[in-house]
Amino acid sequence: MLFRVALLALVSSSAAQDLGVPLSWRKFSNSRPKSERITIAQNAINQITPQLDSGTGEFNGIGFWQSGNVWSVLANQDRLAGTTTNKALVLKNLNLVFSRTTHYDKFHVITPAQASAGRNPKKSFNIKSTCGGATMAGGVFWRPIPDDQAINSITTGLYITLSAFLAEFTKNGTYTAAAIASAKWIKAHNINSNNLVLDTVNADCSTSPAGWLFTYNSGKYIEGLSVLGAVTGDSQWTNLAINILNAAVKTRQWQGADGIITEGASPDKNGDGVGFKAVFIRGIHEAWTRNPNNTPLRTLIHSYGDVQYNALLDLAATGNTYSSAWHGPPQGFTTWGQLAALDVMTCNIDTN
Ligand SMILES: *[C@@H]1O[C@H](CO)[C@@H](O)[C@H](O)[C@H]1NC(C)=O
Repeated sequence: MLFRVALLALVSSSAAQDLGVPLSWRKFSNSRPKSERITIAQNAINQITPQLDSGTGEFNGIGFWQSGNVWSVLANQDRLAGTTTNKALVLKNLNLVFSRTTHYDKFHVITPAQASAGRNPKKSFNIKSTCGGATMAGGVFWRPIPDDQAINSITTGLYITLSAFLAEFTKNGTYTAAAIASAKWIKAHNINSNNLVLDTVNADCSTSPAGWLFTYNSGKYIEGLSVLGAVTGDSQWTNLAINILNAAVKTRQWQGADGIITEGASPDKNGDGVGFKAVFIRGIHEAWTRNPNNTPLRTLIHSYGDVQYNALLDLAATGNTYSSAWHGPPQGFTTWGQLAALDVMTCNIDTN
C-alpha cells in the first residue's frame, strides 16, 4: 500500500510540466527594443491594408474569417502599442461587415436539454446524448447547414473565447456558464493523449481522423481557457491551457527541431491552413497575458515567439512583406502570407 502511494506520488510529480525551452530551437531571443518591434508590426499592417475591398470590408486574396483575423490584429496592435493608429479603420469596416451580414453570429450550441433530448432545433438529425460516456452538451456545430453533423474544436474554442471575454466584460454568469460547458466538451471529447486538441466529433460520435491536427485548434482553446481561468479563478482551466501549450510548441506535428512552424507554408496559393498558425500565436499570447507570475511559462512563450519572429525577419522577408513559408525563401507580397505574419509581429510587442 505504502509502495503504491509512493508510486502515485512519483507519477503525479513526473506529470508536472517541464516548461523548459528546447535548446535546438533557432534564435529564441532578440534584442530589438520595443519601439522597433512596434514599427515592424505596424509596417507589416501597412502592407496589407491597401488590399482592402472597401465595398465588403474584406481583403483581396483572402477569405472571410481570414479578413476577420486582420481586423482583430489591427485592434490588438493599437492595444499593445498604446496607439490609435488603426482604430478608425477597424471601426468603420467592422460596422460595414456587420451591416452586410445579418445573423453573422451563426453559432449553434448544444444545450444540456438538447443533449438529453438528442435534438437541436436547427438540425435535421438526431444527436447522441453522450459520446464515450461524456455529455455532448457544450459542443458547437461548425456550420448552420441543417444536415451538417460536424461539431469541431475551432468553433467550440471560438465560442469559449467569446463567452469568457463577455463574462469578463459584463460580469454576467450566463456567459461564464456557457464558456465552462464548452470548455468541458473539448476536454472530454477532443484532446489526444499527447495533449493536442483534435478536430471534429460528429453528432453520431464518429470523429475526424487522429491525424487531423492543426495549430489553431490548440491555439484557440488555449486562448479561451486562459481567459476562463482568469474569470473563474479555477486553476483546472489555466493548468489545462499550460499543458496543451507546452505540448503544442514542442510537437513535431507542425515544427521541426528548430521550432519554426511549417504548417500552412503555401507560396503560390491561399488556403485555410495558411492562417491557422496566426490563430495559434494569438492564443499563446493570451496565455502569456494571463499568467504574469509564471516565469517558466512566459520564458517558453517568449522564446517560441522569437523563433517565429526571427525566422520571418531573417528567412522569409522581402522588405516589410513575408512569405507564408516561415523557413523562406522570401517572395513577393501575398495577402495570405502577410496575414499569417501579422500576429507574430504584433504579439512580439509584448512577448519579446
Ligand atoms: C446575461 O446575458 C444573457 C445572455 O445574453 C441575457 O439574456 C441576460 O439578460 C443577461 N443578464 C443580465 C443580468 O444582464
